[in-house]
Amino acid sequence: MKKRIAVLPGDGIGKEVVKGAIEVLQAVGERFGHQFHFSYGKIGGSAFDAAGTPLPDETLELCKESDAVMLGAVGGPKWDRQPPHLRPEKGLLKIRKELNLYANLRPTQYYSSLSDTSPLKNEVIEGVDMLMVRELTGGLYFGKPSERTQQNGEDAVVDTLFYQKEEMRRVIKLAFELARSRRAKVTSVDKANVLESSRMWREVAEDIAKQYPDVALEHMLVDNAAMQMIKNPKQFDVVVTENMFGDILSDEASVLTGSLGMLPSASISENGPYLYEPIHGSAPDIQGKNAANPIAMILSAAMMLRLSFGMEEEAEAVENAVNQVLEAGYRTRDIVSFGKKVVTTTEMIEEVKATLLDNEAIL
Ligand code: NAD
Ligand code: IPM
Ligand code: MN
Repeated sequence: MKKRIAVLPGDGIGKEVVKGAIEVLQAVGERFGHQFHFSYGKIGGSAFDAAGTPLPDETLELCKESDAVMLGAVGGPKWDRQPPHLRPEKGLLKIRKELNLYANLRPTQYYSSLSDTSPLKNEVIEGVDMLMVRELTGGLYFGKPSERTQQNGEDAVVDTLFYQKEEMRRVIKLAFELARSRRAKVTSVDKANVLESSRMWREVAEDIAKQYPDVALEHMLVDNAAMQMIKNPKQFDVVVTENMFGDILSDEASVLTGSLGMLPSASISENGPYLYEPIHGSAPDIQGKNAANPIAMILSAAMMLRLSFGMEEEAEAVENAVNQVLEAGYRTRDIVSFGKKVVTTTEMIEEVKATLLDNEAIL
């Protein structure tokens, strides 16, 4: 099969981990007889430096013409003082909006090989299998006005949390659909004791639940959810929540796997193309040190194989290769523990590739 993939490395470690996903996909192509065609586009701070905007039109065009998009990460201190519309993050928000990527799927799973890496006890995390469904194109991130203002002669500021009911409906419905092929439980996370938007969210969830009598719905307030996720994460199956709550809770959830560098994501729309990115950022503290964990990006590529190309066997081959490399004790610095082999980003990529191409290893 021939597939066109738009590759947007972005900034910082984004560039370093994207290389890993591409090499792993090339190995998949070699092994399974597919042709992946990669075209590169700029986004974020590096796009600003080259073209004066964090999302050039040609990048957007390239994405629209492609079968799927892979993105590393954007941002960094170099661009933190820019006006809001020129910030690297604005490029990411704009591409999500332009491609209508209304839902961001962030799966968290337990890796027995990393049980000693998580700060949580093994008995707490063993068997965790949770899918966060984060609303991605609404809420506080996109509401207008969002600006500095004045009140009674004093400096003031406003950000707006706005949702149309339909924006809530489509993402919550998706969560119920996904729960059907999992453990049939949806936890809808909100702040309905305070926010009107959350009260509407709850009504919509109740309404949709009527169409899914086979799926259990529970509501949980976001502050409690943050605590429950650490105390008893196994209770969660599908978690569906508003944009900003999902952003925060998914970084928290990544600790259940062992590291932020382990969590992939898929952003999906009604008609494609979908976008695949790790949940982590550009990690300025480790950029250029060949120390980043490329696994979140590699697992995002596996999600792409499964969700955009229907290549289930290939996706599993990548996931199995990652598991085997972890079981063999290879560790980037973020997931290192006593007695394991510390490897660089490029060495980790080589190990995954070699395992993928080794017939014996993934049978
Ligand atoms: P971050 O996710 O970049 O890093 C948080 C911590 O996790 C750092 O200590 C970092 O070293 C570590 N880390 C992250 N990914 C890692 C990996 N793959 N391997 C090993 N360690 C990893 O978050 P931050 O420091 O708050 O933000 C830095 C910049 O990234 C900001 O400009 C922010 O806006 C941006 N950001 C972008 C995205 C994205 O593009 N999707 C996501 C989050 C943050
Ligand atoms: C993420 C990031 C982004 C977000 C930022 C960089 C805009 O934190 O993808 O999780 O908040 O959505
Ligand atoms: Mn985030």
